[in-house]
Amino acid sequence: MIDKFVTNKIAELTIEGEKYSLPIIEGTEGEKAIDIRKLRQETGYITLDSGYMNTGSCTSEITYLEGSKGILNYRGYAIEDLAENCSFVEVAYLLLHGHLPTADEYQHFSNLLGRFALIHEDMIHFFDHFPPNTAPMAILSSMVNSLSNFYPEMAENPIEDIDIMATRLISKVRTIAAFTYKKSMGWPLVYPRHDLSYCANFLNMMFDSPVKPYVINDEVVAALNKILILHADHEQNCSTSTVRLVGSARVNLYASISAGISALWGPLHGGANQAVVEMLEDIYASDGDYQTYIDRAKNPDDPFRLVGFGHRVYKSYDPRSIIIKKACDDVLEALNVSDPLLDIAKELEEVALNDEFFIERNLYPNVDFYSGIIYRAIGIPSNMFTVMFALGRLPGWIAHWKEMWDDPNWRIGRPRQIYVGPKHRPFIPKEEREKKDR
Ligand code: ACO
Repeated sequence: MIDKFVTNKIAELTIEGEKYSLPIIEGTEGEKAIDIRKLRQETGYITLDSGYMNTGSCTSEITYLEGSKGILNYRGYAIEDLAENCSFVEVAYLLLHGHLPTADEYQHFSNLLGRFALIHEDMIHFFDHFPPNTAPMAILSSMVNSLSNFYPEMAENPIEDIDIMATRLISKVRTIAAFTYKKSMGWPLVYPRHDLSYCANFLNMMFDSPVKPYVINDEVVAALNKILILHADHEQNCSTSTVRLVGSARVNLYASISAGISALWGPLHGGANQAVVEMLEDIYASDGDYQTYIDRAKNPDDPFRLVGFGHRVYKSYDPRSIIIKKACDDVLEALNVSDPLLDIAKELEEVALNDEFFIERNLYPNVDFYSGIIYRAIGIPSNMFTVMFALGRLPGWIAHWKEMWDDPNWRIGRPRQIYVGPKHRPFIPKEEREKKDR
């Protein structure tokens, strides 16, 4: 795919007096890159870019984001339009196929989601053998990895029909997530229902009970739809890059996604949504003293960071956080819930946005800053927040895995390094070794 975007412009590089010409690649939205695919072969040099601050790992047709302007588009559609007008299922289809579904395509995709909603009954025994209080992300990652054995057709034929592959995973992860919660509470499992929409079905599995039937609330369904859409893809973030890298070794989709779930678990990535609410709870417990947290975040000797703030790519508002903040107000109002954590979050945002430290470093609220407050209002416990993120991110992960798999320029992902350890030295037999030889 890359060669299609090579321009007739070149970058000139001089190394120790020798000149090299490097092609320039330009994406459809004008992003430019220096093509260094032949750099090592032609010059003997590699590039060094810890944290991949300046490194493009692929070309992709899925998501465009422009961090300085706060733009996020899936397959060319603005996130604001999708969040306002679509269901999560439509957006999942869009990410996977590149176009919004027709009514028939939508029906087919929804039917498959219904058809694959059950998990193998033997998988339910897994839940009984994790130690109490196992983190739901650990359970999710293990269960998703094990799907490759319960559905071995994937290992035999890794590229099945994309709709089947994707809906099987998106539907089963929803069931696994809800069962994880029920099992953690010691409550009876509620099985999926074919007559409910994707989000309503999830909420019903989470909150229905033999002693108190769950009444589906359209506002809650709409809020969940929106939040999942906002999480559905975010180009080459840590977990998506993990899915691509693991998948580049030609491992099956389930194992690749399981690795992505593990990456998402980290507090600097998807785990931040849980950490935000825990931070807000701590502030609430200390009588709303948020200034201490701001001061700690600014102290270079303190590793503490204001969670839910900052982003590697967005150096202005994260467009998702604007939509989530509004959704948060709407859902709390609809449910007639007043959450003091929302007031603290808004005050914290106000103070941080007017503080030189945060202004200079372009630190704005990110997607995780308000999402946890919505989850709390819906009744989802904080240790499930990152699982919710994973549920939303699945279509993006699958779309990237498939794009990587189909890319004619695909190579196994294998970065280089600059070795800085000891130079070659003679081996000393054990009985002759002395401390001074180290
Ligand atoms: N609070 C205080 N200071 C911060 C924060 C923060 N949340 N984020 C960045 N900074 C500061 C850093 O200390 C650094 O300051 P310095 O230049 O004086 O050393 C500067 O801003 C740049 O920070 P980096 O760590 O270089 O930025 P990077 O792009 O590597 O990290 C990250 C991005 C990990 C998201 C970071 O902003 C962070 O840790 N945020 C808090 C955790 C969080 O909310 N993560 C969720 C991100 S969204 C997502 O993954 C879904």
